[in-house]
Amino acid sequence: MILQNETTGLFTLHTRNTTYQMKVGDYRVLLHLYYGPRLEGDLSYLVRYADRSHSPNPNEAGDNRMFSLDVMPQEYSTCGVGDYRLPSLELELPNGSHTANLRYTGCEICSGKYELEGLPAFYASEDKAETLVIFLEDAAAHVGVELYYGVLEEYDLITRAVRVVNRGTEPVYLQQAASLCLELQRPDLDFITFDGHHARERIPSRSPVRPGVQSVNSNRGISSHQHNPFVVLCEQDANEDHGVCYGAMLLYSGNFEASVERNQLEDSRLVMGIHPYHFRWKLEPGAVFTTPEAALICSPCGFGQMSQQLHRAIRTNLRRDPYGRTRKPVLVNNWEATYFDFTADQLVEIAREAAGLGIELFVMDDGWFGNRNDDFRGLGDWYVNEKKLPGGLGALIDRIKGLGMKFGIWVEPEMVNEDSDLYRTHPDWILNVPGRVFSRGRGQLVLDFSRQDVRDHIYHALTEILAHDVSYVKWDMNRCLTEVWSALLPSDRQGEVYHRYVLGVYDLLERIHQDYPQLLIEGCCGGGGRFDAGMLYYTPQIWCSDNTDAVDRLGIQYGTSFCYPICAIGAHVSAVPNEQNGRMTPMETRGVVAMSGTFGYELDLRRLSQAEKEIVSRQVAEFKAHADLIQWGDYYRLTSPFDNTPYTAWEQVSEDRREALVSIVTGSTRATPPFFILRLKGLDPNLTYRIDGGETLYTGAMLMTGGYPLPVSLMMGDYQSLQLYLKAE
Ligand code: DGJ
Repeated sequence: MILQNETTGLFTLHTRNTTYQMKVGDYRVLLHLYYGPRLEGDLSYLVRYADRSHSPNPNEAGDNRMFSLDVMPQEYSTCGVGDYRLPSLELELPNGSHTANLRYTGCEICSGKYELEGLPAFYASEDKAETLVIFLEDAAAHVGVELYYGVLEEYDLITRAVRVVNRGTEPVYLQQAASLCLELQRPDLDFITFDGHHARERIPSRSPVRPGVQSVNSNRGISSHQHNPFVVLCEQDANEDHGVCYGAMLLYSGNFEASVERNQLEDSRLVMGIHPYHFRWKLEPGAVFTTPEAALICSPCGFGQMSQQLHRAIRTNLRRDPYGRTRKPVLVNNWEATYFDFTADQLVEIAREAAGLGIELFVMDDGWFGNRNDDFRGLGDWYVNEKKLPGGLGALIDRIKGLGMKFGIWVEPEMVNEDSDLYRTHPDWILNVPGRVFSRGRGQLVLDFSRQDVRDHIYHALTEILAHDVSYVKWDMNRCLTEVWSALLPSDRQGEVYHRYVLGVYDLLERIHQDYPQLLIEGCCGGGGRFDAGMLYYTPQIWCSDNTDAVDRLGIQYGTSFCYPICAIGAHVSAVPNEQNGRMTPMETRGVVAMSGTFGYELDLRRLSQAEKEIVSRQVAEFKAHADLIQWGDYYRLTSPFDNTPYTAWEQVSEDRREALVSIVTGSTRATPPFFILRLKGLDPNLTYRIDGGETLYTGAMLMTGGYPLPVSLMMGDYQSLQLYLKAE
C-alpha cells in the first residue's frame, strides 16, 4: 500500500510485514525516514537536525546551520553540494562540474508494477502491486531524476529503479547512477556478502559494518563468481529465526557495486548499482538513462523469512518459466561423461540408459559444432560437426526422441575462438581496443554484444538450431571481459560499452524468449559466474557451479539459497572420484544434494553398476514424487555447513504445512559420536505427522521443540545422508 500525505509531505510504503517511509523535507529535500518492521504513524521525529562543524548547509538554509545534507538521511544521495557520504548520482555537466543538487518536484502513484524497457524487472498483476514515482530535479543542471518504487505487498518486496533525464540543451555525462540508496539510522549492523571464486561461489561472509566504506563489486563484465549482487544488512544477533535483516539485490548481470558506509553519525548507508568503473553514459538533450532494477526486502524475524519471501517473489514474479509450477523433466547432461570426445552413437547409448532409469531430457553439451574438439576452437561456428553427428542435429534428435526423451543443447552465443570461420570472417566483431593485442580467456574472445549486427548474426544462428525440436538450451559464458571497446561507438561513448554489452545479452535473450516461449533456457557462466536475479528473468534456472562435489555443493547451495529459490539452482549428480576435487561420496548423498536444486545427472550412465542404476532409478522416482514440495515448498536452513556441525540439514515444507522433506548430510565421521537431535521447523505444531510411512506419530510441536533423534548409524562412514518425508495424517 502506498500512502501520500500532501500536507506533511510523507510517503509511506506498507508491505505485509514492513514499512518504508520518506518525506519531502525543508527546501524540498527528499529525506529517508524509516525502513523496517511494519509501523504506523509519522516517523519524521527520527530525523535529527544538528549543527556539525565541517558539514555545510544548503544555500536555501541561510543562517540555519542545523540543516545539512551531510547529516540527514537522503533518499537518493548526490555529490558536490555538501553530502560527503557515498553518492548515488554523479553527473559530469557541460561546464565540467560534477555537482548535482536534487529537489522534489512531484509524484505519481498508480496500481500495478512499472516495467523497464530492455531490462529485467519483477512483474505483477495490476491488483498485486503499486508503483510510486517521485520526481526530483536539478534546476541548474536541467537534469531530472525519477525514483521508481514498486511495492509487492505480499512478498514484502520493494523494488527500485531510477531514470535520469537530460532536460537541457547540451549533452550531460552520467558517471554514476545507482539503483538504490538506503539509509539505516543505526551503526550496529552486520554486512553479509556472498563471495568466492570459480567452483566455490556465494559463500556467505559476515562482518560488522565498520567506520568507512565496505563494498563488494564486479568489474569483470559479468556479475561474477567472486561476489554476488545480493547483500544483507542485519542486526548483529540476527540468525535464521530472529533479528531484523535487510536483503538487497540488483537485477543485473554485469559490473556492479554494493557499498555500505558507516559515517561520522554512526548511521549506515547502502548504495547499490552499476559499478562506476569505466562507466560514463552520454545523455543527449532529451535522452533518458534507466538504471537496472534493485529489490529490497526486510524480514523482522531473521534470514529464514527473508529467504522464503525472496524465493516466493523470484519464483512467481521474476522468472518466466515455461513449465510454470509443473515439474520439469529430469535431465542427463553428457559434459562430465564425455567432454568433447563423443559420437552420436555414444550419446544415444547414454540417453538409452537414461530413459531406462526414468530420466526425461537428454542435454548435449559443448563439442557438437564446427571444429570444436577442444576449447581452443570452434566457438562461433554454430553448425553441426557431421563427423561427430552424421545426418546433423535432426538425425540425432530423432533418435533421442525415439527413446521417449526430450532434447536439449549447449551454446555459448557471446563468444568466438580465433580458430573459427566466424572470427576469420569478422575479426572486427570482438571487444578489443585499437592498437592493443587482446587477452584470451579459456582461449576465447568476447563478441561485441553491444552491436546489433553481431547480435543479429548470432540470433539467426540460434534460430537455425531452434528450428529443430529443441526443448532446452544451456546458455554458457566462459570468460570475463577485457579490452572493452566497441568499434561502432565514438570515444566519448566507450564508457557505455560494459552496460551496452549487458543490454545486448538481455536483448538477444528476450528475442529468443519471445520467439520460443516454450523453450527452457538454463543460464551458465563457467558454473555460477552470472548467477543473478537479472539472468533469472530470462533463464529461469542457472547452473549453480562447475563444482559438482556433493560436499562442496552443501556450502555453495547453502549460500545461494539466501536469495535464490531451489527451483532456480542447477544441480546434478556426477561421478566419483569427483572431477573437481577427487572426493568420494556415496551415490545416495549426491542424489540428496542435487535434489535440492533442479536435479539431473552428469555422468556416464553406461559405466554404472547395476546397484548404482537401482539407486538412480529410486532417486529419479523420489524426485518426481516430491518435486512440487522440493521446488515450491518453503525452504528452511536447519544448520550451516560452515558452523563446524557434524552434519548439514535443511528442509522443505509445503505451503499447507502438511508435507515436509528433511535432508541431512554428515561430514567426516568419528568413532562413538554423540547423540544428535535435529529440531525441525515450519511444521504445524498441532498436526500429527508420520515419517516415511512409519508407525510412530509425532506432532509438529514434538518435532520442532523436542526434535528428531538422528539414527546413530547415520554417522557410520563419511558423508552419509538421510532424507525424511513427513506427511500429516
Ligand atoms: C562450462 C560449464 O559450466 C560446464 O558445465 C560445461 O558446459 C562447459 N563450460 C563446456 O565447455
